[in-house]
Amino acid sequence: MTTLEGSPAVRRLTAWEPTRLESLAGEYGTPLYVLDLDRVRENARRLESAFPDAEILYAVKANALKDVLETLHGEGVGLECASAGELTRALAVTDSGAEVHYTAVNPPARDLDIAVEAWEAHPELTITAGAEDTIDRLEERGYDGRLCLRVNPGIGAGHHEKVQTGANAKFGVPAERAVDVLADAADRGFDVVGIHAHVGSGVSSDQLDAHREFVSRMGELARSVTAAVGDLEFLDIGGGFGVPYREDEQPLDLEAVADATREAVGEVDVQLTIEPGRYFVADAGVLLTTVNTVKDARETTLVGVDAGMTTLLRPAMYDAYHPIRNLTADSSDTERSREETAQTIAGPICESGDVFCTDRKLPESERGDLLAIGNAGAYGYEMANQYNSRPRPASVVIDDGVARLARRRETIDDVTSVERER
Ligand SMILES: Cc1ncc(COP(=O)(O)O)c(C=O)c1O
Repeated sequence: MTTLEGSPAVRRLTAWEPTRLESLAGEYGTPLYVLDLDRVRENARRLESAFPDAEILYAVKANALKDVLETLHGEGVGLECASAGELTRALAVTDSGAEVHYTAVNPPARDLDIAVEAWEAHPELTITAGAEDTIDRLEERGYDGRLCLRVNPGIGAGHHEKVQTGANAKFGVPAERAVDVLADAADRGFDVVGIHAHVGSGVSSDQLDAHREFVSRMGELARSVTAAVGDLEFLDIGGGFGVPYREDEQPLDLEAVADATREAVGEVDVQLTIEPGRYFVADAGVLLTTVNTVKDARETTLVGVDAGMTTLLRPAMYDAYHPIRNLTADSSDTERSREETAQTIAGPICESGDVFCTDRKLPESERGDLLAIGNAGAYGYEMANQYNSRPRPASVVIDDGVARLARRRETIDDVTSVERER
């Protein structure tokens, strides 16, 4: 059983055992995602210890692998889903819908059909609407179950403008309309249970003021809704707890975030709910990739690897930094030490943005070397795609110290088989 004792606030890439990763790459090939479920459990316990009174949900979008969902469900963590697909995955690993929330974002009709069908089988499911007409569309389908309203608090935070959702018109009903919308929903027979907002992803310790301001607005709103509409079961302040991607970045002070949260919510008789994604899984995962090409490209050394933006999209999408380590150079049986040189590490996709790092100082790479890209457990495989008709990689999990294949590597047949035959 995993305990918090001796569990660091962040697991750095340097803490992974190179020979273990080399042996997994040898057995399963590359590119390969490796996810340590024991670390996922530690992260869950750290959250539980900082937020002992909160209901904790996992934002499935960060990593929807069945092993992750089962592991977190086993830890008593609920599941927050952003689509009918995630909802289907969540309900497959839980006994009832009680621990499952579906947060509908501009939901396609097919998603609402599936969600309402799921509710018929699991009436304890909670649906969070982010637009007034989502409530109408649920009603049209006969839904009068547990309803939460996603509001737009008008304040955003996060590691990149593309993930700052709190003030983005796409997400939620303007907070100032929430009381009217929920009063109307209650009159129409919905079981109004909560309010929700998510300020953004990758919130760091130096954004604590924005977090405090956001939570205090939500606390105030919960008081207004309670006074005007009736008791709420929960106040869901979303996720967004940041993890340090850079080697010199300090881990988030979770206790400080928890204290600030409790203080900012103020006096209100509702259950606090949080729904982080990244925090559970980011540092539990690495992506292994093999060097295919090393070339002198005038201004830099270009190192071509077999993973690309289709395997891990974050660097291309957000200019995200991921630590990179040459495991072959680091492993104990390499006799000579390698000189550090500036290297640009790029994937096999025919796009100039398909680059993991530019001019980064790393031990000189050689063809056949195994590299590890760190903090790849969140929004890694989930954002992987088949651009350039490239099959998605395999995923291995480590569970109680033992590694096993969790998802096989796709084949080119998997990519083409959904098309019509000749
Ligand atoms: C509604 C909602 N909740 C939770 C999350 C999880 O965010 P994070 O993985 O940064 O904790 C997201 C991320 O986009 C979200 O949109």
